[in-house]
Amino acid sequence: MTGAAPNERRGPFITFEGGDGVGKSTQIARLAERLRAAGREVVVTREPGGSPGAEAIRALLVQGAADRWSARTEALLMFAARADHLERTINPARARGAVVLCDRFADSSMAYQGIAGALGREAVATLGALIVGADGPTLTFVLDASSQEGLKRAGARGDGDNRFEAKGAEYQERVRQAFLEIAKGAPERCVVINAARDIDTIADDIARITFERLGAA
Ligand code: TMP
Repeated sequence: MTGAAPNERRGPFITFEGGDGVGKSTQIARLAERLRAAGREVVVTREPGGSPGAEAIRALLVQGAADRWSARTEALLMFAARADHLERTINPARARGAVVLCDRFADSSMAYQGIAGALGREAVATLGALIVGADGPTLTFVLDASSQEGLKRAGARGDGDNRFEAKGAEYQERVRQAFLEIAKGAPERCVVINAARDIDTIADDIARITFERLGAA
């Protein structure tokens, strides 16, 4: 149960997707600042994680050896975390009209486990229909940059949450292509952003598109 409020009253749900180290969290912080300056309530969150239960599951996912989980188990853990995140954080925030900005969501499961990983598109789509249903994002920015550059930046963060980065450059390149495929399949929701440009230019693009969409909402 995800407890959806009537659609027209719900706050927008904006997700940021892309490979590791493409600059999602920087851009989320920039957009949050601009939305707050415009008087909107903003909830910034992330996946895996974003609620106490989902953060506990995150620790299982991002630490340990690259082969700790099979693609199937990994996807189930991701969706278990996502169910809790929707119930405890995202849906309540949207129900009171807040804008939710989320660092990764179900497109990441499709890209990492479904397309680049071994699980396949259909299984992830089935889990998505079951757990997310109509509670998915209203707008998604896919930050696109070379996986080489991304891995370098992600490694430089040095936070120890590097189980996915440890899967290697070839996997990361498959992930990049997977996100582009997902964006192509959902052009009304997804906007691909060239993330190889400077931070301010990217932030301006994202803010312009967001305010256009909010204005139309
Ligand atoms: P983060 O580094 O963006 O916090 O995410 C941790 C890793 O988890 C990242 O490499 C992407 C991966 N991931 C998946 O494989 N599937 C998912 O559904 C999500 C949300 C993240």
